Amino acid sequence: MLLLALLSLACVSDAVPLTRRMVDMSYTFDDTILHLPIVNKFQLDVVYNGTELNGIWMLGEDYSASVHLGTHMDAPAHFDPNGTAVDKIPIRHFVAPAAVIDITAKAELDPDCGATVEDLLHWERLTGQSLNQTIVLLKSGWGQKWNNMTAYIGSTEADINKMHFPGFSEESARWLVENRNIYGIGSETISFDRGAANTFPAHQIFLATAFLVWRT
Ligand SMILES: *[C@@H]1O[C@H](CO)[C@@H](O)[C@H](O)[C@H]1NC(C)=O
Ligand SMILES: *[C@@H]1O[C@H](CO)[C@@H](O)[C@H](O)[C@H]1NC(C)=O
Ligand SMILES: *[C@@H]1O[C@H](CO)[C@@H](O)[C@H](O)[C@H]1NC(C)=O
Ligand SMILES: *[C@@H]1O[C@H](CO)[C@@H](O)[C@H](O)[C@H]1NC(C)=O
Repeated sequence: MLLLALLSLACVSDAVPLTRRMVDMSYTFDDTILHLPIVNKFQLDVVYNGTELNGIWMLGEDYSASVHLGTHMDAPAHFDPNGTAVDKIPIRHFVAPAAVIDITAKAELDPDCGATVEDLLHWERLTGQSLNQTIVLLKSGWGQKWNNMTAYIGSTEADINKMHFPGFSEESARWLVENRNIYGIGSETISFDRGAANTFPAHQIFLATAFLVWRT
């Protein structure tokens, strides 16, 4: 027993450091969190704060919010009546190499711009790798506008026709689905469609296939 205990101690102290760096890319989930005008905002209610329950002091809160608030995942069931729900997606699909498609330069000039097929092919040429088996992340620099709703979404009005931010173009979404076997996509914008694309074509295309999308 003692030997076992010593051995396990030795294992702990000899633990190999993680070779991969963990990056937390999520935003704080509270009542300041930005939301699309068409979904319910975050609300926190204090339910217990004092000695209300059998004389025991307790603090307890409830919260409510749209499931599309903050850094979150869309499942195919979001846009496809026969699509997979989030709890049915195998957890192994959540870990894959990331391919970062950088459209920051053109997004600075045009907030309505979209990633094109050429942007995707450019990444493959630059890295010498295929986008197959990756999670394709769209980098637009939009995360830096997070604290300013006008800058981040394009408007403070509850109107989906007044949104402006970059995203995956319809053609790039279709090309990825038809030509590459990717595991998922992600974006630092509030929707991975372009803000100006108010019928959500990239949602319709990506979510009709069996993979995942992450977004802020
Ligand atoms: C709980 O009640 C105390 C005293 O009224 C108050 O100072 C505190 O802010 C309350 N906490 C929350 C989380 O509402
Ligand atoms: C959903 O599945 C049902 C049953 O297989 C089928 O009849 C229907 O056309 C499907 N709907 C869509 C939008 O694919
Ligand atoms: C928010 O962004 C808008 C649009 O870019 C800009 O006009 C405004 O000055 C910004 N507000 C703050 C507080 O930075
Ligand atoms: C990538 O995946 C597509 C679709 O599954 C396949 O046709 C193609 O050969 C793959 N390319 C590479 C380089 O593996």
